[in-house]
Amino acid sequence: MENKIDHDDIGYNDTPNEHFSEVLDKRISRRNLLRGSVASAISVMMGSATLTACGGGSDDAPVVTKPETPVPVEKLLGFSAVGKSLADVVTVPAGYTASVIYALGDPLTASATAFKNDGSDADFDNRAGDHHDGMEFFGLDSAGKPSASGNERGLLAINHEATTNEKLASFFIHANGGTNTLPRPAAEVDRETALHGISVVEVRKAAGKWEYVKDSAFNRRVTCLTECDLSGPVKGNALAKTKYSTDGSKVRGTLNNCGTGRTPWGSFVSGEENWSGYFTRGAADDAARGNDKSVAALKRYGRNQGAASRHGWESGGADDKYARWNNSKLGASLDGSDDYRNEMNGMGYIVEADPYNKSKNLRKRTALGRYAHESAAFGKTVAGQPLAVYMGDDSRNEYIYKFVSTATWSDADANPADLLATGDKYLDSGKLFVAKFAADGSGSWIELNIGNAAIAAYAGYKFADQADVLVNARLAADAVGATKMDRPEWCSVNPANGEVYFTLTNNSGRTVPDGPNPRTYEDMKGSSKQSGNVNGHILRVKEKDGNASAAFTWDVYLFGAQSDASPGLVNLSSLTADQDFSSPDGLAFSRATGICWIQTDDGAYTDVTNCMMLAGLPGSVGDGKKVTLAYGASNVDTFVGKTPTADTLKRFLVGPVDCELTGITETPDGKTLFVNIQHPGEGTANANIGDPAKYTSQWPGNAGYGAGKRPRSATIAITKNDGGRIGS
Ligand code: FEO
Ligand code: CA
Ligand code: CA
Ligand code: CA
Repeated sequence: MENKIDHDDIGYNDTPNEHFSEVLDKRISRRNLLRGSVASAISVMMGSATLTACGGGSDDAPVVTKPETPVPVEKLLGFSAVGKSLADVVTVPAGYTASVIYALGDPLTASATAFKNDGSDADFDNRAGDHHDGMEFFGLDSAGKPSASGNERGLLAINHEATTNEKLASFFIHANGGTNTLPRPAAEVDRETALHGISVVEVRKAAGKWEYVKDSAFNRRVTCLTECDLSGPVKGNALAKTKYSTDGSKVRGTLNNCGTGRTPWGSFVSGEENWSGYFTRGAADDAARGNDKSVAALKRYGRNQGAASRHGWESGGADDKYARWNNSKLGASLDGSDDYRNEMNGMGYIVEADPYNKSKNLRKRTALGRYAHESAAFGKTVAGQPLAVYMGDDSRNEYIYKFVSTATWSDADANPADLLATGDKYLDSGKLFVAKFAADGSGSWIELNIGNAAIAAYAGYKFADQADVLVNARLAADAVGATKMDRPEWCSVNPANGEVYFTLTNNSGRTVPDGPNPRTYEDMKGSSKQSGNVNGHILRVKEKDGNASAAFTWDVYLFGAQSDASPGLVNLSSLTADQDFSSPDGLAFSRATGICWIQTDDGAYTDVTNCMMLAGLPGSVGDGKKVTLAYGASNVDTFVGKTPTADTLKRFLVGPVDCELTGITETPDGKTLFVNIQHPGEGTANANIGDPAKYTSQWPGNAGYGAGKRPRSATIAITKNDGGRIGS
């Protein structure tokens, strides 16, 4: 975003945790650097195998050569790269089709009316939410039963992260753009809260075309007011008690759901990311709390006293559903059971859902820690070994985490009768670790345990018990000296070798480079200067000894950069014009093809191109070389993966104006890829709500989907015209 606050770009980590080097003194400017290598030619191998039938038989009849349908030889990344673009469309390679199937406001019940998209629609509890984000496909067979091999029918579980606002109101869903002063009208707040949360929606292929099923009995909306269960060590803890749940067992809603994951037993998990900004605190709340330790915790998670909430939902009225957004100590109780002083302790988790059963509450898996979660990636399952879950905390200078289950994996749990009970088994008990990277390409996982002397004796916060360590995982990670990272977004495990990939999207707060976060530079976007790690990178980790390993090695798979940026300081991966990207965010490996899909959520290179999606065929940790970045007296060594070629990295899709690409899921056969277009038109000014000509995007209306010109977040289905797998 250029002209407004980026709600995703947040940082609260003021701890002096380690950096390897001194402040750099060398500055560089992207736009002033010489053009680098030009795009190399792309070789596209058209599959054409000629098969000749051999005659043979017992008689002397003439041999007849039967013509056969040529079998296409699949070449992954055989498509022609999509060029960078500022057009207000979705562009995919020649030979592919992308169609919109499910957009903001689409009705999810038989009785819900068609979305008018003019600001008059309400009833968003029965419609698609906004800002489609992470997403997973869960197959159904032709009879509508769960099926791991359903390729033409299934459920999409979709995060609805946020809604587009320049000021307080979500301006595309109110007729006049909404009310930007406090108090907010209850009717506006009710629409906006219902836009957040999760959808489960049935999709199917009918007459060769994907569509969603408006009246499916599976369709479900979970919002930021839907009751969820706390599960694991924090359930029932003193920190979880609220007026809504005096025993600390329940939480109202899931919020700012960003990345996703799929458990080895087939359930859906969703990360709660930038939830703290939705809450307000009174200007004198520190004193009201007696300046107790909760003040340090609230500050570490981004809520100083007097902090204003993103939308002002607390002002919607006297009802408890509005009051809960005020995180101040207002009651007289000692334990917080008469107000919402502890309400934020119920947000910030990995949340598990049974996508096939809408009668079951979501469960917040507190053993995995509380922070700004993105995706949750499971390490390869090995019978008899514990599970590993990899996660990132997306704020500037936050950390990378790993959860290791107490229970060891049983293959009998791959297809259980009760998904959430299986989740209880693997996700409610285990150890949480944080990553500490060393300059030599190694690293270690440090357990966040109340028994650790550095945590028990931490001067910044007095932990009461292990639940306190999990609720305040950032503080515990500070205590053990975890490595500050460049905004960890999604992670995914390469099915070929078990290595774990983490997108580090960018970091305007990176002033001191280190090995795993080695770049800080200046970059001009038009006349505005950006600094730090402007374009982001993709880190990867190789465990030394399986899921429970305490040690790992690392390198950088790719550095985001403009292709003509300095090859020695910025474009370290030598990206060509067919490969260059900025701010990697969504990342997932295809289980069908092994392709590493990379999506961007960028504000740095958007003067040249809209956000995009790339396909990669990576190697492994250590396949590249050590590189020294020259920062004057304080050079930094890093390890960069093998330089990609036109056969191993290629741009696959460019989205419409002001969107980000996010969400990656596929049918089991790899022949349909679903992705999300989030917040097209986000750069539109609030004042321009009455003039569609001034919307920066009119997608997907301009692509023929639905009524109206107001832009809408949406899911698209991508298929190959020859019926092949996506990415070939
Ligand atoms: Fe919701 Fe960090 O992106
Ligand atoms: Ca993200
Ligand atoms: Ca992002
Ligand atoms: Ca975003």
